[in-house]
Amino acid sequence: MTPSYQPDGMPLLDVRDVTVRFAGLTALDGVGFAVAPGTVHAVIGPNGAGKSTFFNVLSGVYKATSGSVRLDGAELTALPPHRVAALGVARTFQNIALSRHLPVVDNLMLGRHRLTRAGFVSSGLRLPHARREWARHLDRVTEIAGFVGLGDRLGTPVGLLPYGVQKRVELARALCMEPRLLLLDEPVAGMNGGERLDMAELIVAVRESLGISVLLVEHDMGMVMRLADRVTVLDFGRRIADGTPEEVQRDPHVVRAYLGTSPDQEDM
Ligand SMILES: Nc1ncnc2c1ncn2[C@@H]1O[C@H](COP(=O)(O)OP(=O)(O)OP(=O)(O)O)[C@@H](O)[C@H]1O
Ligand SMILES: [Mg+2]
Repeated sequence: MTPSYQPDGMPLLDVRDVTVRFAGLTALDGVGFAVAPGTVHAVIGPNGAGKSTFFNVLSGVYKATSGSVRLDGAELTALPPHRVAALGVARTFQNIALSRHLPVVDNLMLGRHRLTRAGFVSSGLRLPHARREWARHLDRVTEIAGFVGLGDRLGTPVGLLPYGVQKRVELARALCMEPRLLLLDEPVAGMNGGERLDMAELIVAVRESLGISVLLVEHDMGMVMRLADRVTVLDFGRRIADGTPEEVQRDPHVVRAYLGTSPDQEDM
């Protein structure tokens, strides 16, 4: 299957016919779509639709049974996670994956690791060039922390921060990898109304100020409709719709997948 949507020029991410089978279960079945550069693209669908599986394929954690995923023309499907990251794909997880006992700054510095030449973590800062490199990365980490509103939390152990702020730290750590594509898996899950609005603002800023494309998995439809330029809908591993937020919202397949009824039955 070729994506029905071909943006002008080359897509940043080009997903074609991706199938993932686990023993006895097809988690993704011939999924294809394209993400245009500088856009927020949402992937939505009911529980178990295959959204996180797709992120795992994209970031090199799972291997696709078949199909192709290209970032700017480079095939990602056979690459291990660190190679995918090196090409500019960073992610956050559905459940927070940070070192709770370490301060924010250390968590963010770990996000810089792939960018270091001297390997400042392993060299233990004994060498002057490692120290200089560490200082350079610390400057950038401080800048990114300021951007996401964590400037005054750098020294705080992550575990002591409120949940909504921890999710911000995760996003900041992903930004510390200087990605071209940011994968956000349910960035506002478990957040209160105010925290959700703050996160939505931050996602807009990531795209507009940093020019990073965002691939967003999210159950909060208000967020999706507000933030996404384009939406791909999965159900039982299949792509059932792809279009603008307005288009997919009134697509009968989507309505049926979410409500378990056809749109006609709904009026009854
Ligand atoms: N490692 C695995 N081994 C076997 N089955 C798996 C594995 N990972 C996911 N699955 C199955 O694949 C299907 C898709 O799961 P996935 O986690 O991708 O759904 P999801 O769309 O992210 O759902 P949710 O909205 O609940 O997070 C589910 O049936 C799930 O049980
Ligand atoms: Mg999931």
